[in-house]
Amino acid sequence: MDNRAIGVFDSGLGGLTVVKELQKILPNENIVYLGDTGRVPYGSRSRETIIKYALEDMNFLKSKDIKMIVAACGTVSATLPKEVSDNLGIPYVNVILPSAQEACALTAQGRIGVVGTAASMRSNAYGKTIRSIRPDVRVFGNACPLLVPLVENGLVQADNPITRLTVEMYLKPLIEEKIDTLILGCTHYPIIYDVFNEVLNYDVTLIDPGQCTARYVKKILSSHAMLAEREEAGVTQYNVTDQISGFEQIASLFLGRSISGAVEQVELA
Ligand code: DGL
Repeated sequence: MDNRAIGVFDSGLGGLTVVKELQKILPNENIVYLGDTGRVPYGSRSRETIIKYALEDMNFLKSKDIKMIVAACGTVSATLPKEVSDNLGIPYVNVILPSAQEACALTAQGRIGVVGTAASMRSNAYGKTIRSIRPDVRVFGNACPLLVPLVENGLVQADNPITRLTVEMYLKPLIEEKIDTLILGCTHYPIIYDVFNEVLNYDVTLIDPGQCTARYVKKILSSHAMLAEREEAGVTQYNVTDQISGFEQIASLFLGRSISGAVEQVELA
């Protein structure tokens, strides 16, 4: 058993989709969350900048005495080299493998769509991982650069016409390819899960990286005998690199309870 916290990071709010699921299935774990809201978005930046930001984020988390790092960001997951993630000294989990495994298990026709940021799509990390599991599957990707700003600005209601039109525009080429499964390859997208479902007429299996990654974290912690052993509920500490007010408001809405007072503004070394 290991009572240290799980460290989770993202460029902003998106990683909360992983935190929400972790809190559900591992209620006794402490979590330290970092949202780099001062520098979001990562998805439109160069590979070098994304790696530099990710290293700074992970250094911050490691200063908090954590037992595992979860890159709850599709962009970082798709960009961070394996030689870096293999040498962190603690287990590292990203969102790609769990999502790819789930999509490969659930696709009925072998036609998987992936949506994510420009950097994630450029890396082709989802495509490579999916084909390493199931070479017979066809993968169709589309970058959706406008979705992260919409979510970060709170346009997340299922009936928001701007968000809906934007999702329609991005999904059109994937619908034309007759995908039967869609990986929400950016952790911001499950916040607008209902919009995706409505645009797809509930006809396509949606893969939520938050749910699969949380299940994967549980599996890894349990196989390493690193689950926390405490009776009481775990505590989540939220850290952001920009002002806390906007984050607190949208995060509370998404998590379904107020996190006011649990968020701290920090500076990364
Ligand atoms: N949460 C990030 C991801 O999953 C998207 C936000 C960004 O571009 O930084 O890719």
